[in-house]
Amino acid sequence: MLRVSLPKVGTYEAWRNHARAFLASETPPEDILWHRGAGGGDLFAATVPTPRAAPQTTVPRDFVALARLAVHHSDPERFARLYALLWALGTRPRLTDDRGDPRVAHLNRLAKEVGRDRHKMHAFVRFRDMGSQTDRRRFAAWFEPSHPILEIGAPFFAKRFGDMDWSIFTPDMTAHFVAGTLTFTDPAPRPDLPDDAAEDLWRTYFRSIFNPARLKPKAMQAEMPKKYWRNMPEAGLIPELIATAESRAREMAEATPTLAPARAEKVAARVAQSQEALTASQDRFHAALDACTRCPLHANATQAVPGEGPTDAPLMFVGEQPGDREDLTGRPFTGPAGQLFDRALASAGIDRTTAYVTNAVKHFKFTPRGKRRLHQAPNREEIAHCRWWLDLERERVRPDLTVALGATALESLTGDRRALLERRGRIEETTDGAPLLVTIHPSYILRLPDPVHKAEEEARFIEDLRAARAHLPT
Ligand code: URA
Repeated sequence: MLRVSLPKVGTYEAWRNHARAFLASETPPEDILWHRGAGGGDLFAATVPTPRAAPQTTVPRDFVALARLAVHHSDPERFARLYALLWALGTRPRLTDDRGDPRVAHLNRLAKEVGRDRHKMHAFVRFRDMGSQTDRRRFAAWFEPSHPILEIGAPFFAKRFGDMDWSIFTPDMTAHFVAGTLTFTDPAPRPDLPDDAAEDLWRTYFRSIFNPARLKPKAMQAEMPKKYWRNMPEAGLIPELIATAESRAREMAEATPTLAPARAEKVAARVAQSQEALTASQDRFHAALDACTRCPLHANATQAVPGEGPTDAPLMFVGEQPGDREDLTGRPFTGPAGQLFDRALASAGIDRTTAYVTNAVKHFKFTPRGKRRLHQAPNREEIAHCRWWLDLERERVRPDLTVALGATALESLTGDRRALLERRGRIEETTDGAPLLVTIHPSYILRLPDPVHKAEEEARFIEDLRAARAHLPT
């Protein structure tokens, strides 16, 4: 395994140079662990020095645009995903045109989220006047982006406020613009920023542009999430403006008899799934998975447990992670939860051997307690790292329907694990647009103490599995 540490500044260029060198030496994606910043790595992996000059490779322009943004996402697998796509371009040079390809779709989503985050930074950074001893005024701002985007977000302010000195502090890094030069330093604690006279101006401006008839609190919060509010002077007005919006809108309506025309509904475009061939053979996949050290879970588990089932299975079931038994047998769902799962599948008329059964996380996470190993739920980072493997399985199988068994699978496949019990039985979409049925994890049923409740829940679980079967094309 090769370990690459990318710098926090010049991240894209460093990734590109490494990627070119790896392509030239025909190093497959599975052999590389990528990290940004110091630390975070596998002690047993060999660190790769930054190549000075690497042979150039010709890649489509839209791949470069995608990579320039996606490297600034917080997904821990973004660099690996980019390199895997670059690798695949070697045999399919037009792959980035295939918007339905899950790898392309995933990276396009990351790039889009980074673009949106940068846009929010440009809109929501609020500088405070720090006073000055020279003829250049000094300003500072605190900002918390959702992704490490300061490197690509700060140049906008250098252009717009080129005649001032300023600093933008974020939890990941700090940007300083002094006498016309932009530099970056390590993160600093959130500074004490004074209120200033400009704040009243912001408030007055915001009050004057606020249209109560147009108020959509949900859309407003999606555009301007609450986490930005405390750094924005005008945000203090929002609760009051929302509270009085209805009466003010009524007054406006009474004063003007014509109503605004209704907005046409947008039609959501569904991304078609392409039928690209397998990227790696089954054996190679298993070997690479077993050597995986992307997160610390590999250290204590007996082995990685890959999914099993036919690669043209119409149904894919995704559980949480192997349990004690699965860790020893190397096969998913072979312990107590697996037995319940098998029973429920049979009752729903599904032959397990026709389905692909896998987990969101491939290594068993546990705490030792005497001779026992007690299950521990995987955390966000572990789920995000392991999505790399789940995505490869999904690309290989391309099921007609995926079934998320429980909250961990739901988080991995949709990015949102909340309200599982409300979402169960529903067909949703994975982050790359594939149909997904949501249900509970069989061990939820095993843990219920009341036998009546247990029986009811098992019956509902079987109903969900029947719904999955009914959803398949005939
Ligand atoms: N629980 C899971 O989520 N997966 C298994 O393979 C076993 C138990």
